[in-house]
Amino acid sequence: MARVLDVRNLSVTYKNKNKCVYAVSNASFSIDQGDSMGIVGESGSGKSTMAMALLRLLPRKKTVVEGEAGFLGQDLLHISDEQLDRLRWKNLSVVFQKAMNSFSPVHRIGDQIEDIYRIHEPNATRKEAHGQAAKMLALVNLNERVYKLYPHELSGGMLQRVMIAVSLLHEPDLLIMDEATTALDVVTQGQILGELRKMESELKTSRIIITHDISVVSSSCNKIAVMYAGSLLESGHVSEVLARPAHPYTKGLLAAFPPLRGQRVVLESIPGYLPDMAARHEGCIFAARCPEAMEKCKSAAPARTDLGNDHFVSCHLIEVEKQ
Ligand SMILES: Nc1ncnc2c1ncn2[C@@H]1O[C@H](COP(=O)(O)OP(=O)(O)O)[C@@H](O)[C@H]1O
Ligand SMILES: [Mg+2]
Repeated sequence: MARVLDVRNLSVTYKNKNKCVYAVSNASFSIDQGDSMGIVGESGSGKSTMAMALLRLLPRKKTVVEGEAGFLGQDLLHISDEQLDRLRWKNLSVVFQKAMNSFSPVHRIGDQIEDIYRIHEPNATRKEAHGQAAKMLALVNLNERVYKLYPHELSGGMLQRVMIAVSLLHEPDLLIMDEATTALDVVTQGQILGELRKMESELKTSRIIITHDISVVSSSCNKIAVMYAGSLLESGHVSEVLARPAHPYTKGLLAAFPPLRGQRVVLESIPGYLPDMAARHEGCIFAARCPEAMEKCKSAAPARTDLGNDHFVSCHLIEVEKQ
């Protein structure tokens, strides 16, 4: 399978007046064509920061972004703004949780969608733009009737679905959804994710979905990445990680849940709090909360260990087992 995204040692630091926040530390993961990866983690664990860093949406003066992010042969973090503009929307697109606030109140929904389409397809006719818009609206279960409406005539959930349709207009190679379906009702969310999966298998496109809801990952993704306090602790195939989690944090998360299939389960924190992300941590970031922590865990950060079959974990316990 062709590699679409290859993130290596991504770190993001917010620099405010007298305080630094180490929001993402040394995160590495990759996405192949057709993969859909769910990134899960408690609130504040750095998921949105990671997505915004990949899309270079963070304020330059106040953030330091390090690492590499190979995307279709180019490094997202180091190409020019013009090169990035060419990739955005057409190859790489994103939807955030409150995306629906981005519509202009004074123009009809349909006109806005067509205008957005034609920014990147300037030679497209109105008819072509309309055809593509209608296709994507159907994908998010919206009737073409919304075309003639103004934003205030739609509910928040409908507008959010329109935004998802907009993000799909150019059938991007990679779509990043940051809690984009979280506010929708369960049935609508399930329908949209189902349609997305169909489209992905047809077009061989890839998706990253950021969520605190593990059932979204188990029902709509083939890969999972677990984040904790800015660190990516474990990643791999959903079927494998859910059946045989390697990291104590992943084990703790999964143990707290009823059976994963069928019902909706929301990620809840295991006892304790996220560590202070304004401080540098010497050892494993999870050591203070880890039921299996060893002396070494407090002083040295664990390396990312390859368990085979795309399963990676950063934990000293695994290093010990492998020796
Ligand atoms: N603009 C900012 N300035 C300083 N700290 C920030 C800023 N935005 C987010 N953070 C901090 O970065 C960490 C990660 O936040 P975020 O990426 O939003 O996490 P998540 O999406 O997993 O909830 C948190 O500790 C948060 O408080
Ligand atoms: Mg977030």
